[in-house]
Amino acid sequence: MDQDDKKNLVAEAALEYIKNGDILGIGSGSTVNKFINLLGSVRNKIEACVSSSNTSTELLKNMNIEVIDIKDAKSIPLYIDGADEANSQKELIKGGGGALTREKILAQASDKFICIIDESKFVKKLGSFPLPIEVLQIAKSSVSLEMIKLGARPVYRDQFITDNGHIIIDVHGLNINEPMALEKEINNIPGVVTNGIFSIRSADEILIATDNGIIKK
Ligand code: A5P
Repeated sequence: MDQDDKKNLVAEAALEYIKNGDILGIGSGSTVNKFINLLGSVRNKIEACVSSSNTSTELLKNMNIEVIDIKDAKSIPLYIDGADEANSQKELIKGGGGALTREKILAQASDKFICIIDESKFVKKLGSFPLPIEVLQIAKSSVSLEMIKLGARPVYRDQFITDNGHIIIDVHGLNINEPMALEKEINNIPGVVTNGIFSIRSADEILIATDNGIIKK
């Protein structure tokens, strides 16, 4: 099975979690795109979706699935999203696709967050994947400097503006020994909108696609 097959497999496994009348939170990325493509088969069960990115919104609308604003959702019983890395504590690094802020808002607002990944993303320690940070344009240098002080190497994501109109700095070489402490520390830097550590609100369950099928953590 190649990585694409595994993404399909795990996307299909997530369908089981949808209950009748659910408002679904929908993440972003190539794994979630596969999940969206499968939603046609359960369209009747879904009341509406709340989307984390313009790209996911467009895909959902193409599937004739109603997309509502988060403020109009009375509750979000289930949020489905991928990740760039996940550990056994269900802490994540997200934001490879740049949609981390809305993803974090949705994760926080949801009753249950199911993360869907293939096995290449399940790691002992977070941090091999560069940590994405969404930053106000005016704070590009000052936030980068703070990352250098942490011993890391900030790389400006060239030619990329988020759906919220901000930039992304990808931080290489961070030592993420304590994900929650670092998530809070980076959040406290002026100009940071969101960082891609999902530890304060981690996933509730991780579905991992392997060559031998789905493993649940
Ligand atoms: C989007 O901003 C990200 O958080 C994605 O959830 C993450 O990058 C996983 O994407 P893939 O499924 O494309 O690997």
